[in-house]
Amino acid sequence: MAIVLGIETSCDETGVGIVSDGRLLGAALSSSMAEHARFGGVVPEIAARAHLEAMVPCVTAAFEQAGIAPSDVDAIAVTSGPGLATALQTGLAAAKAYALALGKPLYGVHHLAGHVAADTLEHGPLPPRPVALIVSGGHTSLLLLGDLARDPIVHLGDTRDDAAGEAFDKVARILGLPYPGGPAIDRIARDANPEAIPFPRAMLDSGYDFSFSGLKSAVARHVERGSRQAVADIAASFQEAVIDVLTRKAVKACLDHGVDTLLIVGGVAANGRLRQVAATRCAAAGITLRVPRPQLCTDNGAMIAAAGDLLIAADTPPSPLALAADPSAPLTRASLNPHEEQWSRS
Ligand code: KG4
Ligand code: ZN
Repeated sequence: MAIVLGIETSCDETGVGIVSDGRLLGAALSSSMAEHARFGGVVPEIAARAHLEAMVPCVTAAFEQAGIAPSDVDAIAVTSGPGLATALQTGLAAAKAYALALGKPLYGVHHLAGHVAADTLEHGPLPPRPVALIVSGGHTSLLLLGDLARDPIVHLGDTRDDAAGEAFDKVARILGLPYPGGPAIDRIARDANPEAIPFPRAMLDSGYDFSFSGLKSAVARHVERGSRQAVADIAASFQEAVIDVLTRKAVKACLDHGVDTLLIVGGVAANGRLRQVAATRCAAAGITLRVPRPQLCTDNGAMIAAAGDLLIAADTPPSPLALAADPSAPLTRASLNPHEEQWSRS
């Protein structure tokens, strides 16, 4: 059975995970989030330097937790896109160095496929044909999946403008809440009234695409008008509008496509209210809901190791050591390998 070392550095988290046969053996995470807070968003150069400093300590900690040595590893999986170019490059450089030094194959993984694969660590193998709602800081997509390692990924819908996480981060800024906005809004909205303000639900009845920039502007206009409402009620009402659209479209996608399992993954899937509303709506529609625990929703290394584990089990050819960062890689397959001739040359 293969032991896979996974490395994730696409944004501000340095994540390392060790997975074997769908089981998480060890993991370590280091975040540079606090260093970006005063800029209100991730600064790529600061993130890249932080990855460089955190990489070896994280790898060491993950091995310690797993109780294995580097020589026990059978393969290295690494996020090669999408993400911040300089940040991706530090992870790729580390992964290539381990692959070369240990004489083991390298697997380039699509970051978002990693988010989906994370759920296997908690809930076991994926069903043959699930729908996945990916909600992160950079992406929001509704996907129809087959075998994650083998089949092309079908996009049912995507956001036309802001990603859901991006909307949380921007609205938090408008409301004077700290960065990252998602956890801040999640917290403050907990005891507030989600029905205080009927914010718009964009594109609710038109297909599976999403749009969140109008909602963000509606919150900004509401605040500019000198709202007398408490910040917590504005935050809760905004959050409810996002969640209402996400869960309605996700459930509809399952019903329309005769799919019985919905996965919700990515940073925003850590949101308490989203998990609650999704559970209620899936139960009412007879759909099995799978959402990984919050630590596996936000960026981490275990999810990349989990994706690598699936690729190896499916006999996917490894990537060449020339594997390049692809900052805007489209999500069409879990593995970010170049085409066949390049595989045979590696
Ligand atoms: O998947 P992720 O960790 O990184 C990307 O791949 O983008 O997602 C980060 C996003 C951020 O926008 C953050 O505000 C959001 O996920 N997020 C949340 C929560 N935790 C993180 N949004 C809502 N509620 C949360 N509890
Ligand atoms: Zn992510």
